[in-house]
Amino acid sequence: MSSTAAAAGHNDPGVIQDYIDRGLRHLWIHTQQINDLRREGEYVVVESGEGIWLEDATGKRYIDAMSGLWVVAVGHGRRELVDVAARQMSQLSYANPFAYASGPAIDLATKLAELTPPSLNRTYFVNTGAEAVETAIRMAKQYQWNRGERGRFKVISRMGSYHGMTLGALSVNGAAMINRAPFEPLLPGNIPVPNTNGIGALSNDKTGLDDVFWADYVEEMVRFHRPETIAAFIAEPISTANGSVVPSARYWQRIREICDTYGIVLIADEVIDGFGRTGRWFAVEHFGIEPDLMTVAKQISSGYAPIAGVIASDKVADAFEGGAAEAFVGGSTFGAHPVSCAVALANLGIIEREGLVANSRDTGAYLGEQLQAVVDRHPTAAFTDGVGLMRQITLMRDPEKRERFAPADDLAHRMPRLLRAHGLLTRAVDVIQVAPPLCITRAEVGDLVDRVDQVIGAFEKEMGIA
Ligand SMILES: Cc1ncc(COP(=O)(O)O)c(C=O)c1O
Repeated sequence: MSSTAAAAGHNDPGVIQDYIDRGLRHLWIHTQQINDLRREGEYVVVESGEGIWLEDATGKRYIDAMSGLWVVAVGHGRRELVDVAARQMSQLSYANPFAYASGPAIDLATKLAELTPPSLNRTYFVNTGAEAVETAIRMAKQYQWNRGERGRFKVISRMGSYHGMTLGALSVNGAAMINRAPFEPLLPGNIPVPNTNGIGALSNDKTGLDDVFWADYVEEMVRFHRPETIAAFIAEPISTANGSVVPSARYWQRIREICDTYGIVLIADEVIDGFGRTGRWFAVEHFGIEPDLMTVAKQISSGYAPIAGVIASDKVADAFEGGAAEAFVGGSTFGAHPVSCAVALANLGIIEREGLVANSRDTGAYLGEQLQAVVDRHPTAAFTDGVGLMRQITLMRDPEKRERFAPADDLAHRMPRLLRAHGLLTRAVDVIQVAPPLCITRAEVGDLVDRVDQVIGAFEKEMGIA
């Protein structure tokens, strides 16, 4: 990596500064406050990657401890995927998805039917997770319409969940970090319900309630809002935005029963969970349920090409058969892109061939034990949770009293700076995300965990907490 970077001249401080200056002027980085990025040392230009490693333009190496954004399952720098993309571009670089199929799209859809639970058999390809969520909501509504249930427009979603930032996805978004206010009014008919661990003052920690209580609560809300007005229920089978809490199988089975009883489409948003992140191909497998629609993205291609999809059950897909009025009209210009489909199929081939789902389960369990040992060593490390290779450590000023750090403690800047200084790229405020590529080895986990340990040690030193 370094030799290529040096050859391109990117280790030259003048070249790097020019990059940063132009980036600050012209590139709108998602989510970040530009003023924060103007601070010395805050602007990172990532230049290359290999395996679990990333290298920036200065030549500094980092472990990619969040797989980008829970994306890069097979690791960086896979030549095989580059070759597949190049071959597909030379053969067929684009096909109009409103009119034709391509071989790679058919092959990928067939593969997804094989990998997902038995009732899910037809995929509608789009480009991003949010677009998949939008499409699933629209599909659920038209499913209801096609079967004569024309008053069903409401969508139940959970507080603390993240489903994307387009306006429809935002309407069902309940993540605490997202301020929805500037974008209101959003889609009418959203019914927010508490997540599996309750919410705020009503969290399970404080009330002693279990997650099945919150599934029963969904039924109360369905009755209150009248079932004949409700189209869908959407949730991540295991939510990371909400603290990687793994719900009980009974929670999900209750949700499935409620959806069946009241004719509600159950949408499982597997955009983060899917393709092995939780130690199973799909997180719904942990709970023994099958959704009516499943949204997928991210690890489907390991980020080597943008692609996402909605996988429909036979029950839903069948309701779209009939005449012109029943068809699911509309689409997306780059949907089912042949290059993205070919790359995604080859990526799933690597996940299968290298046993990365089992590695996520087993090496993920090892990672969990190691993170627990870190928690045991540090007074501010309150707990670790998660499953597979989707884990977190939560920091608190006083874990026993459940006292959180205050905004004035500035963890939002402090933690990313300390992580970078120790060669880790991941997201952290008071929750450190630990979700490395699924190809990580036990030895690499050791290295990663040592660094997390050092980061928390350095943090406690800075804060004067020993
Ligand atoms: C569960 C879930 N759904 C949807 C999305 C939106 O995906 P995208 O950013 O590709 O639009 C995300 C993104 O992180 C997600 O975590």
